Amino acid sequence: MKHILLIYYSQTGQLKQIAESFIRPIIENHSITIDMEELKPITLYPFPWPFGQFIDQFPEAVSLIPPALHPFQFDEGKKYDLIILAYTVWFLSPSPPITAFLKSAKGKMVLSETPVVTLIACRNMWLEAHEQVKQLIKQANAYILDNVVLTDRGSSLKTLATTPRWMLTGKRDAFWRIFPRAGIHNDDIIATQRFGKALLFSILNGDIQKTNPVLTGLKAATVDQRLIDSEKIARRSFLIWGKLFQLLGPQGHFLRKIAAIAYGLFLIIIIATVVPAMMIIRVLLKPWRQHAIDKERQYFESPSGSEDDRMEKFS
Ligand SMILES: Cc1cc2nc3c(=O)[nH]c(=O)nc-3n(C[C@H](O)[C@H](O)[C@H](O)COP(=O)(O)O)c2cc1C
Repeated sequence: MKHILLIYYSQTGQLKQIAESFIRPIIENHSITIDMEELKPITLYPFPWPFGQFIDQFPEAVSLIPPALHPFQFDEGKKYDLIILAYTVWFLSPSPPITAFLKSAKGKMVLSETPVVTLIACRNMWLEAHEQVKQLIKQANAYILDNVVLTDRGSSLKTLATTPRWMLTGKRDAFWRIFPRAGIHNDDIIATQRFGKALLFSILNGDIQKTNPVLTGLKAATVDQRLIDSEKIARRSFLIWGKLFQLLGPQGHFLRKIAAIAYGLFLIIIIATVVPAMMIIRVLLKPWRQHAIDKERQYFESPSGSEDDRMEKFS
Protein backbone atom coordinates (compact mmCIF):
# COMPACT_ATOMS: atom_id res chain seq x y z
CA MET A 1 0.00 0.00 0.00
CA LYS A 2 1.33 3.46 -0.93
CA HIS A 3 1.04 6.45 1.40
CA ILE A 4 0.64 10.12 0.53
CA LEU A 5 0.84 13.08 2.89
CA LEU A 6 -1.03 16.24 1.92
CA ILE A 7 0.16 19.39 3.66
CA TYR A 8 -1.79 22.61 3.25
CA TYR A 9 -2.64 25.95 4.76
CA SER A 10 -5.72 27.74 3.47
CA GLN A 11 -7.13 30.86 5.04
CA THR A 12 -10.49 31.18 3.27
CA GLY A 13 -10.77 27.52 2.32
CA GLN A 14 -10.12 28.08 -1.39
CA LEU A 15 -6.84 26.17 -1.49
CA LYS A 16 -8.34 23.42 0.66
CA GLN A 17 -11.11 22.99 -1.91
CA ILE A 18 -8.53 22.80 -4.71
CA ALA A 19 -6.41 20.27 -2.83
CA GLU A 20 -9.49 18.15 -2.14
CA SER A 21 -10.41 18.21 -5.83
CA PHE A 22 -6.83 17.16 -6.69
CA ILE A 23 -6.86 14.14 -4.38
CA ARG A 24 -10.49 13.05 -4.97
CA PRO A 25 -9.63 10.46 -7.68
CA ILE A 26 -6.94 9.01 -5.41
CA ILE A 27 -9.27 8.78 -2.42
CA GLU A 28 -12.04 7.19 -4.51
CA ASN A 29 -9.62 4.55 -5.76
CA HIS A 30 -9.01 3.26 -2.20
CA SER A 31 -5.63 1.72 -3.01
CA ILE A 32 -3.51 4.59 -1.62
CA THR A 33 -3.81 6.18 1.82
CA ILE A 34 -3.77 9.94 2.17
CA ASP A 35 -3.04 11.71 5.45
CA MET A 36 -4.23 15.31 5.37
CA GLU A 37 -2.39 17.82 7.51
CA GLU A 38 -3.79 21.31 7.85
CA LEU A 39 -1.18 23.68 9.23
CA LYS A 40 -2.50 25.65 12.18
CA PRO A 41 -0.75 28.89 13.20
CA ILE A 42 -0.90 29.53 16.95
CA THR A 43 -1.78 33.17 16.35
CA LEU A 44 -4.61 33.16 13.84
CA TYR A 45 -4.49 35.55 10.89
CA PRO A 46 -7.55 37.78 10.63
CA PHE A 47 -10.00 37.55 7.75
CA PRO A 48 -11.02 39.91 6.31
CA TRP A 49 -7.74 41.66 6.91
CA PRO A 50 -7.48 45.14 8.45
CA PHE A 51 -5.37 47.06 5.90
CA GLY A 52 -2.46 47.86 8.28
CA GLN A 53 -2.25 44.28 9.54
CA PHE A 54 -2.28 42.94 5.97
CA ILE A 55 0.71 45.07 4.98
CA ASP A 56 2.45 44.38 8.31
CA GLN A 57 2.76 40.71 7.27
CA PHE A 58 5.12 41.28 4.38
CA PRO A 59 8.47 41.84 6.15
CA GLU A 60 8.37 38.46 7.91
CA ALA A 61 6.77 36.70 4.93
CA VAL A 62 9.51 37.77 2.48
CA SER A 63 12.30 37.17 5.01
CA LEU A 64 10.91 33.65 5.48
CA ILE A 65 10.56 34.14 9.23
CA PRO A 66 8.36 31.27 10.40
CA PRO A 67 5.34 31.81 12.66
CA ALA A 68 4.71 29.35 15.51
CA LEU A 69 2.45 26.46 14.52
CA HIS A 70 0.44 23.99 16.59
CA PRO A 71 2.14 20.57 16.68
CA PHE A 72 1.77 18.53 13.51
CA GLN A 73 -0.52 15.50 13.55
CA PHE A 74 1.51 13.43 11.09
CA ASP A 75 4.07 10.92 12.27
CA GLU A 76 7.39 12.43 11.19
CA GLY A 77 9.01 9.00 11.37
CA LYS A 78 6.62 7.59 8.76
CA LYS A 79 8.05 7.20 5.29
CA TYR A 80 5.59 8.59 2.74
CA ASP A 81 5.83 7.66 -0.93
CA LEU A 82 4.87 11.18 -1.89
CA ILE A 83 4.08 14.51 -0.28
CA ILE A 84 1.67 17.01 -1.81
CA LEU A 85 2.53 20.49 -0.60
CA ALA A 86 -0.38 22.84 -1.30
CA TYR A 87 0.45 26.47 -0.73
CA THR A 88 -0.68 30.01 -1.43
CA VAL A 89 1.50 33.03 -2.07
CA TRP A 90 1.80 35.92 0.33
CA PHE A 91 3.85 38.87 -0.94
CA LEU A 92 5.66 36.82 -3.57
CA SER A 93 6.67 34.34 -0.88
CA PRO A 94 5.18 31.11 0.38
CA SER A 95 2.46 31.78 2.96
CA PRO A 96 4.21 31.91 6.37
CA PRO A 97 2.67 28.69 7.78
CA ILE A 98 4.14 26.82 4.79
CA THR A 99 7.54 28.43 5.42
CA ALA A 100 7.22 27.32 9.05
CA PHE A 101 6.50 23.74 7.98
CA LEU A 102 9.40 23.66 5.51
CA LYS A 103 11.84 25.06 8.07
CA SER A 104 10.71 22.90 10.98
CA ALA A 105 12.77 19.91 12.13
CA LYS A 106 9.75 17.59 11.85
CA GLY A 107 8.86 18.98 8.43
CA LYS A 108 12.41 18.37 7.19
CA MET A 109 12.35 14.89 8.64
CA VAL A 110 9.16 13.85 6.89
CA LEU A 111 10.29 15.50 3.64
CA SER A 112 13.72 13.92 3.55
CA GLU A 113 14.33 11.93 0.36
CA THR A 114 10.64 12.08 -0.57
CA PRO A 115 9.22 13.26 -3.89
CA VAL A 116 7.07 16.37 -3.54
CA VAL A 117 4.26 17.62 -5.76
CA THR A 118 3.69 21.31 -5.15
CA LEU A 119 0.22 22.73 -5.71
CA ILE A 120 -0.02 26.53 -5.82
CA ALA A 121 -3.19 28.63 -5.87
CA CYS A 122 -2.84 32.41 -5.90
CA ARG A 123 -3.82 35.57 -7.75
CA ASN A 124 -1.16 35.26 -10.47
CA MET A 125 2.28 36.05 -9.05
CA TRP A 126 3.89 32.81 -7.88
CA LEU A 127 7.29 32.62 -9.58
CA GLU A 128 9.45 34.15 -6.85
CA ALA A 129 7.56 32.30 -4.11
CA HIS A 130 8.25 29.04 -5.86
CA GLU A 131 11.95 29.84 -6.08
CA GLN A 132 11.95 30.08 -2.27
CA VAL A 133 9.96 26.87 -1.88
CA LYS A 134 12.32 25.03 -4.25
CA GLN A 135 15.28 26.06 -2.08
CA LEU A 136 13.58 25.07 1.18
CA ILE A 137 12.58 21.69 -0.25
CA LYS A 138 16.15 21.16 -1.41
CA GLN A 139 17.44 22.09 2.04
CA ALA A 140 15.10 19.44 3.48
CA ASN A 141 16.82 16.93 1.22
CA ALA A 142 13.63 16.36 -0.76
CA TYR A 143 12.90 17.00 -4.42
CA ILE A 144 10.08 18.41 -6.51
CA LEU A 145 8.56 15.90 -8.87
CA ASP A 146 5.85 18.16 -10.29
CA ASN A 147 4.44 21.64 -9.86
CA VAL A 148 0.78 22.50 -10.46
CA VAL A 149 -0.35 26.12 -10.48
CA LEU A 150 -3.86 27.57 -10.44
CA THR A 151 -4.28 31.30 -10.90
CA ASP A 152 -7.18 33.69 -11.12
CA ARG A 153 -8.58 33.86 -14.68
CA GLY A 154 -9.10 37.62 -14.38
CA SER A 155 -6.59 39.99 -15.99
CA SER A 156 -3.71 41.38 -13.93
CA LEU A 157 -5.41 44.74 -13.83
CA LYS A 158 -8.81 43.45 -12.72
CA THR A 159 -7.45 41.07 -10.09
CA LEU A 160 -5.47 43.97 -8.72
CA ALA A 161 -8.85 45.25 -7.58
CA THR A 162 -10.73 41.99 -6.94
CA THR A 163 -8.09 40.17 -4.85
CA PRO A 164 -7.35 43.01 -2.36
CA ARG A 165 -11.12 43.68 -2.16
CA TRP A 166 -11.65 40.02 -1.24
CA MET A 167 -8.80 40.00 1.28
CA LEU A 168 -9.64 43.36 2.89
CA THR A 169 -13.45 43.20 2.93
CA GLY A 170 -14.28 39.50 2.53
CA LYS A 171 -16.36 40.39 -0.54
CA ARG A 172 -15.65 38.01 -3.37
CA ASP A 173 -18.51 38.55 -5.80
CA ALA A 174 -18.34 40.17 -9.23
CA PHE A 175 -19.10 43.90 -9.18
CA TRP A 176 -19.63 46.95 -11.39
CA ARG A 177 -20.24 44.66 -14.37
CA ILE A 178 -16.53 44.73 -15.31
CA PHE A 179 -14.91 43.04 -12.32
CA PRO A 180 -15.15 39.23 -12.14
CA ARG A 181 -15.59 37.12 -9.00
CA ALA A 182 -12.29 36.99 -7.11
CA GLY A 183 -10.27 33.81 -6.85
CA ILE A 184 -9.89 30.60 -8.80
CA HIS A 185 -12.71 29.78 -11.22
CA ASN A 186 -14.91 26.91 -10.07
CA ASP A 187 -14.38 25.02 -13.35
CA ASP A 188 -10.62 25.18 -12.79
CA ILE A 189 -11.07 23.82 -9.27
CA ILE A 190 -13.11 20.88 -10.55
CA ALA A 191 -10.65 20.28 -13.42
CA THR A 192 -7.82 19.92 -10.87
CA GLN A 193 -8.98 16.29 -10.59
CA ARG A 194 -7.03 15.52 -13.75
CA PHE A 195 -3.81 15.81 -11.77
CA GLY A 196 -5.06 13.36 -9.16
CA LYS A 197 -6.05 10.92 -11.90
CA ALA A 198 -2.65 11.19 -13.59
CA LEU A 199 -0.80 10.89 -10.30
CA LEU A 200 -2.82 7.83 -9.33
CA PHE A 201 -2.12 6.28 -12.74
CA SER A 202 1.63 6.85 -12.33
CA ILE A 203 1.75 5.56 -8.76
CA LEU A 204 -0.18 2.41 -9.64
CA ASN A 205 2.13 1.86 -12.63
CA GLY A 206 5.25 2.35 -10.53
CA ASP A 207 6.27 5.39 -12.59
CA ILE A 208 7.32 7.62 -9.68
CA GLN A 209 11.03 8.04 -10.17
CA LYS A 210 13.37 10.65 -8.91
CA THR A 211 13.78 12.78 -11.99
CA ASN A 212 10.73 12.27 -14.17
CA PRO A 213 7.68 14.50 -13.71
CA VAL A 214 4.39 12.62 -14.09
CA LEU A 215 1.99 15.54 -14.57
CA THR A 216 3.27 16.74 -17.94
CA GLY A 217 0.86 17.42 -20.81
CA LEU A 218 -1.85 18.54 -18.37
CA LYS A 219 -1.32 22.30 -18.50
CA ALA A 220 0.09 22.17 -14.99
CA ALA A 221 1.98 25.47 -14.84
CA THR A 222 1.59 28.34 -17.28
CA VAL A 223 3.86 31.34 -16.89
CA ASP A 224 2.71 34.83 -17.78
CA GLN A 225 6.08 35.99 -19.08
CA ARG A 226 5.01 39.63 -18.70
CA LEU A 227 5.18 39.26 -14.92
CA ILE A 228 8.68 37.82 -14.61
CA ASP A 229 10.53 41.15 -14.31
CA SER A 230 7.87 42.74 -12.11
CA GLU A 231 8.13 39.88 -9.66
CA LYS A 232 11.92 40.13 -9.49
CA ILE A 233 11.82 43.89 -8.89
CA ALA A 234 8.95 43.72 -6.41
CA ARG A 235 10.62 41.00 -4.36
CA ARG A 236 13.83 43.01 -4.15
CA SER A 237 11.83 46.01 -2.96
CA PHE A 238 9.96 43.88 -0.40
CA LEU A 239 13.24 42.58 0.97
CA ILE A 240 14.74 46.05 1.41
CA TRP A 241 11.61 47.63 2.91
CA GLY A 242 11.00 44.54 4.99
CA LYS A 243 14.37 44.93 6.72
CA LEU A 244 13.50 48.55 7.52
CA PHE A 245 10.16 47.49 8.99
CA GLN A 246 11.84 44.89 11.14
CA LEU A 247 14.18 47.58 12.51
CA LEU A 248 11.12 49.55 13.66
CA GLY A 249 9.93 46.74 15.92
CA PRO A 250 8.06 43.43 15.98
CA GLN A 251 4.79 42.82 14.09
CA GLY A 252 2.01 44.97 15.52
CA HIS A 253 4.39 47.68 16.87
CA PHE A 254 2.74 51.09 16.50
CA LEU A 255 5.66 52.46 14.40
CA ARG A 256 5.19 49.57 12.01
CA LYS A 257 1.47 50.29 11.84
CA ILE A 258 2.18 53.82 10.66
CA ALA A 259 4.86 52.61 8.26
CA ALA A 260 2.50 49.89 6.96
CA ILE A 261 -0.16 52.38 5.99
CA ALA A 262 2.39 54.63 4.24
CA TYR A 263 4.03 51.68 2.50
CA GLY A 264 0.65 50.20 1.55
CA LEU A 265 -0.30 53.38 -0.26
CA PHE A 266 3.14 53.55 -1.90
CA LEU A 267 2.70 49.93 -2.96
CA ILE A 268 -0.69 50.54 -4.55
CA ILE A 269 0.81 53.39 -6.59
CA ILE A 270 3.83 51.30 -7.61
CA ILE A 271 1.69 48.29 -8.56
CA ALA A 272 -0.64 50.47 -10.57
CA THR A 273 2.21 52.16 -12.43
CA VAL A 274 5.41 50.06 -12.43
CA VAL A 275 3.78 46.67 -13.05
CA PRO A 276 1.85 47.78 -16.18
CA ALA A 277 4.91 49.79 -17.34
CA MET A 278 7.13 46.70 -16.98
CA MET A 279 4.57 44.64 -18.87
CA ILE A 280 4.49 47.16 -21.73
CA ILE A 281 8.30 47.41 -21.88
CA ARG A 282 8.54 43.64 -21.96
CA VAL A 283 6.05 43.38 -24.81
CA LEU A 284 7.89 46.11 -26.77
CA LEU A 285 11.26 44.40 -26.31
CA LYS A 286 9.85 40.97 -27.07
CA PRO A 287 11.10 40.70 -30.69
CA TRP A 288 14.71 41.13 -29.50
CA ARG A 289 14.42 39.05 -26.38
CA GLN A 290 12.29 36.17 -27.64
CA HIS A 291 14.94 33.51 -27.10
CA ALA A 292 15.77 34.66 -23.56
CA ILE A 293 12.04 34.95 -22.72
CA ASP A 294 11.34 31.43 -23.97
CA LYS A 295 14.18 30.08 -21.87
CA GLU A 296 12.94 31.91 -18.80
CA ARG A 297 9.40 30.68 -19.32
CA GLN A 298 10.59 27.13 -19.77
CA TYR A 299 12.61 27.39 -16.57
CA PHE A 300 9.68 28.64 -14.48
CA GLU A 301 7.19 26.21 -16.04
CA SER A 302 9.41 23.21 -15.37
CA PRO A 303 9.15 20.42 -14.43
CA SER A 304 5.49 19.85 -15.36
CA GLY A 305 5.10 22.45 -18.13
CA SER A 306 2.18 24.14 -19.85
CA GLU A 307 1.60 21.61 -22.65
CA ASP A 308 -1.89 20.13 -22.85
CA ASP A 309 -1.49 17.03 -25.01
CA ARG A 310 -2.57 14.56 -22.28
CA MET A 311 -5.61 16.52 -21.07
CA GLU A 312 -8.13 14.21 -22.74
CA LYS A 313 -6.66 11.08 -21.23
CA PHE A 314 -7.20 12.33 -17.68
CA SER A 315 -10.21 14.63 -18.02
C1 LIG B 1 -1.23 38.62 2.96
C2 LIG B 1 -1.53 38.12 1.57
C3 LIG B 1 -0.64 38.36 0.53
C4 LIG B 1 -0.88 37.87 -0.76
N1 LIG B 1 0.06 38.07 -1.74
C5 LIG B 1 -0.11 37.48 -2.96
C6 LIG B 1 0.92 37.57 -3.94
O1 LIG B 1 2.00 38.12 -3.73
N2 LIG B 1 0.70 37.00 -5.15
C7 LIG B 1 -0.48 36.35 -5.45
O2 LIG B 1 -0.61 35.88 -6.58
N3 LIG B 1 -1.46 36.21 -4.52
C8 LIG B 1 -1.31 36.76 -3.27
N4 LIG B 1 -2.27 36.60 -2.31
C9 LIG B 1 -3.47 35.76 -2.59
C10 LIG B 1 -3.23 34.34 -2.02
O3 LIG B 1 -2.16 33.71 -2.69
C11 LIG B 1 -4.46 33.44 -2.11
O4 LIG B 1 -4.90 33.33 -3.41
C12 LIG B 1 -5.59 33.91 -1.25
O5 LIG B 1 -5.09 34.32 -0.01
C13 LIG B 1 -6.64 32.81 -1.01
O6 LIG B 1 -6.01 31.66 -0.46
P1 LIG B 1 -6.60 30.76 0.72
O7 LIG B 1 -6.90 29.41 0.14
O8 LIG B 1 -5.52 30.65 1.78
O9 LIG B 1 -7.78 31.44 1.25
C14 LIG B 1 -2.06 37.12 -1.02
C15 LIG B 1 -2.98 36.90 0.03
C16 LIG B 1 -2.71 37.36 1.30
C17 LIG B 1 -3.70 37.07 2.42
